[in-house]
Amino acid sequence: MIITRKLISPSRGGWFQTLRYLVVASFVTLTITYLLSASLPPFESEPNLELHAIDHLIKEAQKSQADLMSRQSHTLEDAAHRYRERRGRHPPPGFDKWFEGAKNRDAIVVEEFFDRVYHDLKPFWAKPAAEIRINANTYVHVVRVRDGGAVYVTDNPDRVPWIQLWHSIVAEAAPFLPDVDMPVNYMDETRVLVPWDHINEYIKIEQARRKMPPPEEVSSSYPGLRELDRISGPSLDPNWVTDESTKYWDHARQSCAPHTPARNVSAIEDFSEPITHPYGWPSYSYHGFVQNWTEAQDPCLQPHLRAMHGTFIESVSMSTTHELIPLFGGSKLPMNNDILLPPAMYLSEEERYAGADLNKFDWKHKKDKLIWRGVASGGRNRNDNWHHFHRHRFVQTLNGSTISRMEESRKPAETFDLPFPGTYDLQPQRDGTLGKWVSSFADAAFIHLECFPAEYDPDQKRSSFCSYTSPKFHVELAMPMKEQFTHKYLPDVDGNSFSGRWRSFLMSTSMPMKATIYKEWHDDRLMPWVHFVPMDNSYQDVYGIMDYFLRGHDLAARRIAQEGKIWAEKVLRRDDMMLYVWRLLLEFARICDDNRDNLGFVDDLKNSRELV
Ligand SMILES: *[C@@H]1O[C@H](CO)[C@@H](O)[C@H](O)[C@H]1NC(C)=O
Ligand SMILES: *[C@@H]1O[C@H](CO)[C@@H](O)[C@H](O)[C@H]1NC(C)=O
Ligand SMILES: *[C@@H]1O[C@H](CO)[C@@H](O)[C@H](O)[C@H]1NC(C)=O
Repeated sequence: MIITRKLISPSRGGWFQTLRYLVVASFVTLTITYLLSASLPPFESEPNLELHAIDHLIKEAQKSQADLMSRQSHTLEDAAHRYRERRGRHPPPGFDKWFEGAKNRDAIVVEEFFDRVYHDLKPFWAKPAAEIRINANTYVHVVRVRDGGAVYVTDNPDRVPWIQLWHSIVAEAAPFLPDVDMPVNYMDETRVLVPWDHINEYIKIEQARRKMPPPEEVSSSYPGLRELDRISGPSLDPNWVTDESTKYWDHARQSCAPHTPARNVSAIEDFSEPITHPYGWPSYSYHGFVQNWTEAQDPCLQPHLRAMHGTFIESVSMSTTHELIPLFGGSKLPMNNDILLPPAMYLSEEERYAGADLNKFDWKHKKDKLIWRGVASGGRNRNDNWHHFHRHRFVQTLNGSTISRMEESRKPAETFDLPFPGTYDLQPQRDGTLGKWVSSFADAAFIHLECFPAEYDPDQKRSSFCSYTSPKFHVELAMPMKEQFTHKYLPDVDGNSFSGRWRSFLMSTSMPMKATIYKEWHDDRLMPWVHFVPMDNSYQDVYGIMDYFLRGHDLAARRIAQEGKIWAEKVLRRDDMMLYVWRLLLEFARICDDNRDNLGFVDDLKNSRELV
């Protein structure tokens, strides 16, 4: 059922012979090119004659990236045309000002970068506009745009400053926005989980209603929301479910498509049971390495994650609705129906989120090592369930002495098991020295054990003492980002939800690696294997990935580190986040208006008619 126990031969077939000639030939050309262009090393510049699965993945990804870049819009006409082609509607009123704003900020405009906006908002077209705007207007934490200015309301302004940060970015766009309300989620955890069958109905309704009326029937004016502010009452309770945080999986799987492997697999009943690990290559991989990043993030395709990710074990807090209400937040699971915003943490100047300011790209002085520091978050880890938490598993997976013990005893560790020999064709694993090899490059440790209930060791005066995990994990001091960035390899995994440091890792000049089940606003603008290295949520591929980069592919790592940084500085700037929110709120405002089917931007069509 869940376990696919496959013993698969490593990735060298006959195709390698055919490619050998090509690689040698291109190596000569590329070496010359490399000597000429000192800044960006070409990918194939190393004398590595064996084509590895990761070589293939990198090449394919570079092609996809070039493809995407060829679809940039340089003029308003281009942008409006691509919009109509991709969305099947006229752009929203104010689209011209948005495009001008993007141009003024040197933003790269590719319509696909905004797919997330449409994915998130589509189901709302099936709901009456009045219902959406009343729900948005009456929520407890709201950023409001009125008459070209922005304000926020919250029950408690002394919390972490998320609403203030979101307000600041909406305020930049507000002069160009119609009146709109943006209700925001204050919790780490996501909130909206509509059953798949309902969403499927909503999407069908949306598709049936999608149309492009002739320009003379299209309007661009809004009545404003002042009237709504005057009449609206307290917010309605969409039946929040709050007391089932150990059963979140059962709520979530109802939002998986009926044919997916997770849909009929229930949440685990007994947390003390050992984990059923997945073995072999994931279906969405190429020879074991993530090929389809969307699928790699999807728990609906990976029922084993019900026992291997904190989200599905016991979240710190749960407040979930199965009704479709508008709620904006920084991250969500693929099956959630929250509306994504750039996370407030990415708008923060705080060092632990913003990272270090690195202008110099100093790869050769970095250590050939992997570094990870973090708290044991992910949910409420307890004596009987901690071995199901992903961060605990991640730290153990990279603990050389744990691995050496496993090599001797041939038994799984509490949190994970080693891949079968041959799955990733690792020399050290064949030699029985995997643990020793991992110790030579990996430094992953907790800085706090986040025990529940919290424990305090009076002798040691340590608040991070924990009777059940202290014997297994060494607690290190926190390490400033600057120091982390002196290591070449920076893996990132989920916390209670998404990881707030991801953006700074992408900008860091080290090579970022990522496993996650959380979606973010930027997913459509980051290309795995070009801007970062994707990892499976089982973390089983991490040894194979490190084997590739540490043994003969330093330049490939350097290139990803460098391209990721250059790219992040082009498409993940504060300006880019502001433009995303601006576009999102133009769309959301339209969906909240009774006249939404006839609201649009059509000036480009009128102008071109006049010309004819
Ligand atoms: C799940 O169960 C339903 C109803 O029992 C059945 O119709 C469906 O085919 C099952 N799906 C899977 C993936 O087993
Ligand atoms: C990845 O998988 C998704 C879902 O199955 C599919 O829609 C998408 O086209 C795939 N992407 C690529 C790049 O193959
Ligand atoms: C690695 O595992 C050993 C043995 O279980 C443990 O004593 C040690 O503290 C662990 N190291 C870290 C960094 O967690």
